[in-house]
This record gives sequence, C-alpha cells and structure tokens, in this order.
Amino acid sequence: MRPTESFPGPKSTPSSRPQPCSAPESAPERQAEPGAPGESEGQVALAVIAGVEIERLDDASMAVGTTPDGRAVMVAGALPGEVLTMRVVRTSRRTGLLYGQIQEVTRPSPDRVPSPCANFLRCGGCDLLHANTEAQHRFKERKVSSALASLGVRVSKIVPAPANFGYRAFAKFVVETSGSLGSYGPHSHDVVSMSGCVVHAPEIEAIAENVRAWLHARAGPLDLRYVLMRASTLTRTVAITLVSRREEAEGLTSLVEHLKDDARVARIGLHANATEGDALLGDAPVRTNFDRGPLEERLDDIVHYIVEGAFSQVNPTAAARAYRLVSQLAMPVVGARVLDLYAGSGGIALRLLADGALHVVAVESSAAAIEAARNAAAANREGGLSLYAEPVEAFLRRMPPPESRYDVVVANPPRKGLSPTVLEGLARLSWERLVYMSCNPSSLARDLEDLGRLDPRIRFVSAHPVDLFPQTKHVETVVLAERVAQR
Ligand SMILES: C[S@@+](CC[C@H](N)C(=O)[O-])C[C@H]1O[C@@H](n2cnc3c(N)ncnc32)[C@H](O)[C@@H]1O
Repeated sequence: MRPTESFPGPKSTPSSRPQPCSAPESAPERQAEPGAPGESEGQVALAVIAGVEIERLDDASMAVGTTPDGRAVMVAGALPGEVLTMRVVRTSRRTGLLYGQIQEVTRPSPDRVPSPCANFLRCGGCDLLHANTEAQHRFKERKVSSALASLGVRVSKIVPAPANFGYRAFAKFVVETSGSLGSYGPHSHDVVSMSGCVVHAPEIEAIAENVRAWLHARAGPLDLRYVLMRASTLTRTVAITLVSRREEAEGLTSLVEHLKDDARVARIGLHANATEGDALLGDAPVRTNFDRGPLEERLDDIVHYIVEGAFSQVNPTAAARAYRLVSQLAMPVVGARVLDLYAGSGGIALRLLADGALHVVAVESSAAAIEAARNAAAANREGGLSLYAEPVEAFLRRMPPPESRYDVVVANPPRKGLSPTVLEGLARLSWERLVYMSCNPSSLARDLEDLGRLDPRIRFVSAHPVDLFPQTKHVETVVLAERVAQR
C-alpha cells in the first residue's frame, strides 16, 4: 500500500522506487533494506536476544532500541516502551547496529493492537498496523514537528482520516503466473499475496479476487506483469490497466473478456512494458480496450474525473478534508486571486472556486490532468479557472510582471518537492499567502527553509498534518506561510 498516485497513462514516467505522492509507476513494493543507505552488512549472527527495550520509532517507523548489554537495535513492528525478544537477522559492520525480527513481545505497549492483516510486515505495505490510531497520529505529528523544527512553525493536531481501513482507491499488483496477485515482499522479488488487504477499497479487493480466481482456473501461457486499479468512491466502479511484456500479450484476451462481465469494471486499458526492473510502465501508451465512460469521483459536493495519465489522490475522502483545510488557510476572506501550482486534475482549484475564490490560475504538466480539470469545471459550472498545461518552471520563468500578482499561491508538488527554479520564481512573485501541501515532510522542510532564505519577509504561520495514509508511516502536511510587509 502506498499513499498517493496517478493512474497510469501515456505520459507517466516510470520510476524505480515506490513514491507516495507522485511517482507511482514502480511495482509494489520492494522496500529499502533497513538501516542507513550504503551501510555495509556484517555477518548474520543468528542470535536470539531477550530483554530488548524499544525507545522510539524513527521516521520510517522502524523501532529503535537497546539490548541488555547496550547494543543498538532496529526492528520492524515494535512500539516505544515495549520489551521484546528478537532474532538478529543482520548486523552493520560499520556501526555495530543489530537488525532484528520480533520473536516475542514480552512487555507490549498499551498502544499495541492485533494486526488485522495476515501479511503484515511481509507485503511491504502498511507499517503501523500494530499501533492504534492515537499512536499512529502521535507518530505522524512528531514526524512533522521534527522535520519542521528549524522553521519555528506551530504544528497542530493531525486531521484524522474519515476511514482508517478500506480507503485506498488505487492499487498496484504484481502478478505471479502461478496465480498470486500481490506485492513484492520487503527486500525481495518474492510476490506476497495481498489477498484480504485491509486498506484497499472493497471494489478493488473484489476485482482482485476475481482476477485471482481467473488466474487459478486458466490454462496455457500468460503474459501479464502488473494489474493496476483505480476505484471511484462515488460510482463504486474500477478502472483497470493490465500491464504485459508485449503488445500481443499471450492469454490476455480471455482475461479482458472475463473482466468485461464484471459490472464493477468501468474501463480496461492495456499497456506493454518490456523494460527490466520494477517500473510499472514503459513508454508505450495505455490502449483503451473497454470503456463504460469516464470514472467520476465526488469530493464533498464537487465532481472530479479520474483519467489515465493524471494524478489523483489515493485516499479521496481524506483528500477532501485536506482540500478544505487548504482552502480555509488560503482564503480567510472570499474573492482571492489564487495561483494553484501542481494542480493535477483540479482538486484544490475547484474547492477554492466553490469556496469563493475570484479567479484560480492552475498550472500542471500533465495535459490529461488539465483536460480532466477543464471537464470537471464545466460539470461543476465553475467559471474563473484558467488552466496551463506546462511545467511550473516554464510558467514561472516566462511570467510577465503584471500577471505575477496573486493574493495566494497554493503548491502541491510531487514528493521530491520544488526545484530551485520554482523556489526562485516563488520568491520573485507577488503574493501574500502561500499554502504548501506535501506528502514528504523532508522536502517540505528543505523547500520552506530555502524560501525563507530567498525572501526574509516570509513567516511560517502554521503546519497541519493530515492523515491521508492510515496504517502507514506516510503523512500529508499543509503549511501556511505569509509575507509580512516591510517597513
Ligand atoms: C502531488 S500531485 C498534486 C495534484 C493535485 N494538487 C491533487 O491534489 O490532486 C503533483 C502533481 O504535479 C504534477 N507535476 C509534477 N511535476 C510538475 C512540474 N514540474 N510542473 C507542473 N506539474 C508537475 C504531477 O503531474 C501531479 O499532477
């Protein structure tokens, strides 16, 4: 399970690593080895150590603790204050750090809950299924606070998600031709079944079971690498992309025919990706094979369209809360002129217009997303939206001075954050408020620090964690910055 993602389309750029916000096109989900990047491994000492005390979780939700003889350990699936027996699976030659697997929790934390998932810590998805909601919230609030500490910004309580399970409207499955449909386990290419996934939307789970049954029953060769699904919480239907190695994929026609009979399937796209590695998509376009019409979504009272090639939030109901928060922070009064950078399919722009923005200029590099925003604006009968299908860098570079005056700038970039060109453009641009929404506290902090250096008039007013990705270590954050007038 991975937080936010775009539904794949022709313009998608493959990446080698699963990325919550914006680079979804890699297979689910081979995690990094525990420990510092580049750390060398020592010999595996298969010792079992009792009495390990857990002190804290690091930002990746790995539990950090100490053995009775004072050696530092890291272990997944434990909580602060717990005492446990662990098996050492790896040691770091450089630091002496021991990486362990829990054998027994001898003193459980009051925050511990039984994981509802049989594949917890095996599928590489949710990291915090063993912690209750309050503990997950504390972890995320602390993660945001520590990332933003240097800004001196006030961090508020986390905005909870409307649902902690069954919320995930986007899924990517690795196919094992033996019949398994799942994800790569941590540190391996073994496919771990995601059957019964507790965070996927129920429609996705139902169709995944349908595909599994078909895989088990079929005979003959099959060219199918990945199955990608995007569900609408409004229509309860699903768009599917089947990724094969070759265009003339063996055995796929009968799967497509089988899926067409499922009333929950709204669209089927086919994509050929012969590249090695974990990239979900290659350069070829997604060919629409079956189409019951565009996938419509509704966030609060606003209609949106989910289209291939355009980003859409994986947790639509929680995203609606984040959009409301962005709008409240951006517009203490109605009638604002807003620049919405990294606008996607217009989710934030349409919320701002519905809440009384005078005019929103939305900039987004995906033409498919801009087209979806245009259609959604028409469906919502919203005027006042100007759309630019181009990179933010290009937009800011060529902006002539008279156009460059806004009351508010909203930025919701991909996980990697803002480029130097965008930071410099933002510092040059005339605005009073900046609302920055990010799924990556580290790049958020880095960008805001850089922005503060580029323009000393900027003050960071408040930061608001939002639980867009329950059961995982990921957290969305919305920050309000203001420019104070110079005397
Ligand atoms: C995290 S998503 C946010 C989308 C939208 N605000 C939403 O909530 O759905 C980031 C968006 O930035 C777009 N993007 C990435 N790099 C870009 C760039 N350099 N210029 C413009 N858009 C970009 C992606 O296509 C994606 O739609």
